[in-house]
Amino acid sequence: MNAATDRPLLEIERLEVQFDTRRGVVRGLRGVDLTIGRGETLAIVGESGSGKSVTAQAVMGLIDVPGRIAGGDIRWKGQSLLTRAGARMAREIRGREIALVFQDPMTSLNPLIRVGTQISEVLRRHLGLNRADADLRVLDLLEAVGIPAPPRRARQYPHELSGGMRQRVMIAMAIACQPELLIADEPTTALDVTIQAQVLELLAGLQESLGLSVLLITHDLGVVAGLCDRVAVMYAGQIVETGRAEDVFERPSHPYTQGLIRSTPRLDDQMERLIAIDGAPPNMLAPPSGCAFRDRCPIAEPRCETPPKLGPSWPEGTVACWRASTDAWAVAAEAAPGMLRVV
Ligand SMILES: Nc1ncnc2c1ncn2[C@@H]1O[C@H](COP(=O)(O)OP(=O)(O)O)[C@@H](O)[C@H]1O
Ligand SMILES: [Mg+2]
Repeated sequence: MNAATDRPLLEIERLEVQFDTRRGVVRGLRGVDLTIGRGETLAIVGESGSGKSVTAQAVMGLIDVPGRIAGGDIRWKGQSLLTRAGARMAREIRGREIALVFQDPMTSLNPLIRVGTQISEVLRRHLGLNRADADLRVLDLLEAVGIPAPPRRARQYPHELSGGMRQRVMIAMAIACQPELLIADEPTTALDVTIQAQVLELLAGLQESLGLSVLLITHDLGVVAGLCDRVAVMYAGQIVETGRAEDVFERPSHPYTQGLIRSTPRLDDQMERLIAIDGAPPNMLAPPSGCAFRDRCPIAEPRCETPPKLGPSWPEGTVACWRASTDAWAVAAEAAPGMLRVV
């Protein structure tokens, strides 16, 4: 491999996003570092409000007033997407090479336009296809995302489709321009469990057949297993742990990740208990100094008042915790009764 292909497709470096609200400055992202390689599937996990969507929006250029990028950089194949001079190029990249699938297809599909026409418009706008070619390609795309009877479905309106079918239409639109990176922000949250699994399977299949890189955002660790190569765990606008998916699941290093894994309902759990991490994420108008998790952490100690940096973890990930070590899991398990609550 040469240097150009070695380089990660997407590099996010020390990214800061702030929202200037009437109540003060909300620190949405506080120095996020992330990379995604070619053909790689990365999951960002974390509780609601941790900064997952803001990260995706920043990549897509969708941070709007009152929000602003206050620092750091986002590079696509080595080129910054944030420079004024490169604004036009960044717009083109975001339309064609990076695509986004939202959580709720009902709000992103136009209810008054047939789904086939909506996909066709994307093809005509971005690829310059004529109407006849675009309409033919729509049928291929609907088939590629597993929608039966494409000619009939293409003529339907969004409300005539089930939630799962609508999400498939959104995915068809996202892959219409053959992007290299697909960002899916909680793509299955609005769907029931069986349909969720089918949509995730579709994403995995497309990832493989199209050689896509995928950034999958979810608050549900359960959907990550078996689907993603790497996991990044976010807390309070920062990445607190990254690693290969199986390492993060089997031996999470950060006490927050350990809590998240415990709170994920297991398929074999007959009781269907949901164990949550006690306490609430910090208020991002005034994020705490030091480790943001320390108020909820069962193994916090005085040095946690100094913010821990993201450093290497065993065997090949990163973690931001003073006490992280391969036996932190055992320490946390002992201290767990105070940390865990059955709801
Ligand atoms: N438009 C906005 N105005 C003010 N604060 C915002 C806005 N969008 C996001 N935030 C804040 O940024 C932080 C991260 O939000 P978000 O990325 O949406 O979280 P999630 O991980 O649930 O996707 C939260 O504290 C949220 O309140
Ligand atoms: Mg979100």
